[in-house]
Parts: sequence; structure tokens; C-alpha cells
Amino acid sequence: MGKEPSGEFEYSRGLEGVSAAISAMSRIDGDDGILIYRGIPIEIMAENSTFEEATYFLLFGNLPNKKELDDFTTEMKEYRKLTSEEIEWIKNFPKGGHPMDALKTCVSYMGMEEPPPPGEKQTLRGFTKNGKKIIARLPSFVAAFDRARNGKEILQPDNSLPHAANFLYMLHGEKPDEESAKILDLAFILHADHGMNASTFSTYVTSSTLSDIYSSIITGIGTLRGPLHGGANERVVAMLQQIGSPENAEDYIMKAIKEHKKIMGFGHRVYKAYDPRAKILKDYAKNLAGKEESKLVETAIKVEEIMMREVSKKGIFPNVDFYSGFAYKAIGIPTDLFTPIFAVSRVSGWVGHCIEYRQQNRIFRPRAIYNGPIDVEYTPMDERE
Ligand SMILES: CC(C)(COP(=O)(O)OP(=O)(O)OC[C@H]1O[C@@H](n2cnc3c(N)ncnc32)[C@H](O)[C@@H]1OP(=O)(O)O)[C@@H](O)C(=O)NCCC(=O)NCCS
Repeated sequence: MGKEPSGEFEYSRGLEGVSAAISAMSRIDGDDGILIYRGIPIEIMAENSTFEEATYFLLFGNLPNKKELDDFTTEMKEYRKLTSEEIEWIKNFPKGGHPMDALKTCVSYMGMEEPPPPGEKQTLRGFTKNGKKIIARLPSFVAAFDRARNGKEILQPDNSLPHAANFLYMLHGEKPDEESAKILDLAFILHADHGMNASTFSTYVTSSTLSDIYSSIITGIGTLRGPLHGGANERVVAMLQQIGSPENAEDYIMKAIKEHKKIMGFGHRVYKAYDPRAKILKDYAKNLAGKEESKLVETAIKVEEIMMREVSKKGIFPNVDFYSGFAYKAIGIPTDLFTPIFAVSRVSGWVGHCIEYRQQNRIFRPRAIYNGPIDVEYTPMDERE
């Protein structure tokens, strides 16, 4: 509890335990490791759904019937196409820039191509439509930037393909095999929403000022980028490569624990049990691993074993980022695209939450407990040290 001139305020570091909104989209039971999307367990969604269907479900609240899903899919396909100006613009991006920065810039550009009306004039319909456009076009931006920085021709979408398969086509220049497309679609579903996580919260904050959906999503991308959030999956692969083999894991992990270093891909603010998404991806990672990756997977399993022995009693378990990188690596996705792919999936949640919050909107305006001095005298410049 802190005190300010106008009253007492609770202080929760990192807003732990604070509810910032009411939402019917997804729920995490952190004690038992359960995640549901609008009441349906993530395992059931992973087994039966597609990213397109999961997105519809998250945005609109009902599992779509055939016509609703067909109409939605057709509309999303229309929005995938890159404009010629976007292509020219992406070709001129600095080649060494991080793809997450490219993604923010692309969404910003997109917002300037079709400027939304000023805040209070935006209808929920227009807001939602722009949100759908962003969801549809993000994969095209990620693939286009990767091709441009590698000196390859930027491709337009192939509308005979579903969302995940089309991304792989636009990235690699050939239609993916069924298994690769399936795995990416699965990863998209698993990452699509996750309650009030840091990036989702940041989109709420931006949207709550009645700013536009483009600005909200840019905020989300910027927040996701950090290594404590979506950037962890890149770091997991780098760490496992550094460990090199299962035999080295014990020394590496014990030294890190002793030095109070965080092991990427472990721990979660809400889960104090095994993240159900990590469980699903772990099984895929084991089956998928080719020659190069299988050593990494073996190392990962060893790291998990040591971490379970050492820190699971503190409620630290593998999270979704620990195994997602393997799925991406196995289907030929470069490491620095792992976080952009997270954004391509999580954007459904971001847009859904912004739409939901618009209907209960109140600007976010918390307080900080001031702990600086008061009544300080202003010293003229010539009297300062
Ligand atoms: C996800 C994360 C940011 C949650 O942070 P948080 O709720 O603020 O938890 P804290 O950082 O306060 O950690 C609480 C305790 O667990 C420990 N801990 C948390 N994550 C840990 C990890 N990955 N490795 C080792 N110890 C960890 C902390 O050192 C701390 O220990 P202490 O109480 O002895 O000081 C944190 O677990 C983390 O940094 N994980 C690694 C990054 C990652 O994988 N992010 C992806 C999340 S999906």
C-alpha cells in the first residue's frame, strides 16, 4: 500500500494478481496447467481446429458454421495481398534490421495507406474490419521482409492455400508439404491467445485511449519482442546450441542456477504447473526432429530434466517457448523469425481483446507511488555546482 496526496493506493509489482479487464476469450488455470479458448480446452482446439477457425472463434465468440467460416476465410484471403507500395517499401528496409521492427513498420505503413477515422468516429465495424486486415496481412509482411533481406523476389499470396501454408509458400517460394503446414497451423492455434499477457495488455492500453487498431497492434508487437515475453523462443535455441549436447547440460544449468540466471523457456507468471502448450509442442518436437535438430531436442529434454529436479518445486516449469523453436526450425524457419511468427499468431488475440474492450472501454490510467523529494527549491543556473 502506498500513499499519495489524494489517497492510499495498492501497489503490485508487475501488476501481479491485478485484474485489468473482463474477458470471455481465454482462461488460464495456472495451478493445474489448463488453458481454454472460450470454454474449449487448448488440446481439443489443437487437435480439431485451424487457425482461421480459432481466430473466428476468438473474435466473434461462436464456433463458425460452414458458411460463416467460408465467408471469413474468403475475406481474409482478400486482405493478404501486399500492395505494390508495400512491396517497394519493404525492399528498401535496412537488410540488417530485426524482423520485429520490420513488422511494426509495416503495420504502421498499412495504417497510413487507409487512415482510420479519428478515435471517437471509429465504428466497431470499421475497427473490426481493420483488425481482420492486419491479422490477414502480418504473415505476408514477415515473409516479404525475409525474402527482401535475402535478395529474393517478394511473392504475393497463393489463395488456394490456407493461412499457415500460404505463409510458408510466401517465405520459401514453394508450396509446403502437408506436415509442415499442419505443424505451423498448430503452433498458430496454440499461440493465438493467452489471457492478459504483457503484449495483450499493452494493446488494451493503446486501444483504451480510442486510438486506432493499427497503433494498438504496433504496441503489441513492440511489447512481444522482449526476451521475457515472445523473444524467449529465439534465446532458447541459442542457449541449447551453446550447451551443445546433453552431457554438457548439467554443468551449464547448475552454474546458471547458482548465478541466479534465468533459463529461457522456463517459468511463467500464471502457470505454476506444466504449460499445456509446451506439452503439445514437446511431442511434436520429438517426432519432427531431423538429424541436426535431434541433438538439440535431446539437449532440451536433459535441460528440462535438470530444471524439473532443481526448480519445479518453486513452480518453474517449461513454457510454450521452450519447445516451439524446434517446430519452427524443423520446417525451415530462420531463428530471428520465431518471434514474428509468435506475433502472426497472437495478433488474433490482440485484435479480439481490443474489440472486446471497446465495448467496456475506459481509459487505463493507473498511478505510480511517488517516492521522490517534495518542496525542493529551484536553484538558478549560476548557483548550481
Ligand atoms: C516468464 C517470466 C518473465 C515470469 O516472471 P515473473 O512472474 O516476474 O517471475 P520472477 O521473475 O519474479 O521469478 C520468480 C522466481 O522464479 C525464478 N525464475 C523465474 N523464471 C525463471 C527461469 N526461467 N529460470 C530460473 N529461475 C526462474 C526467479 O529467479 C525468481 O526466483 P527468486 O524468488 O528466488 O528470486 C520469468 O519466468 C522469466 O523470465 N522466464 C524466462 C523467459 C521466458 O521464458 N519467457 C517466456 C514466457 S512465456
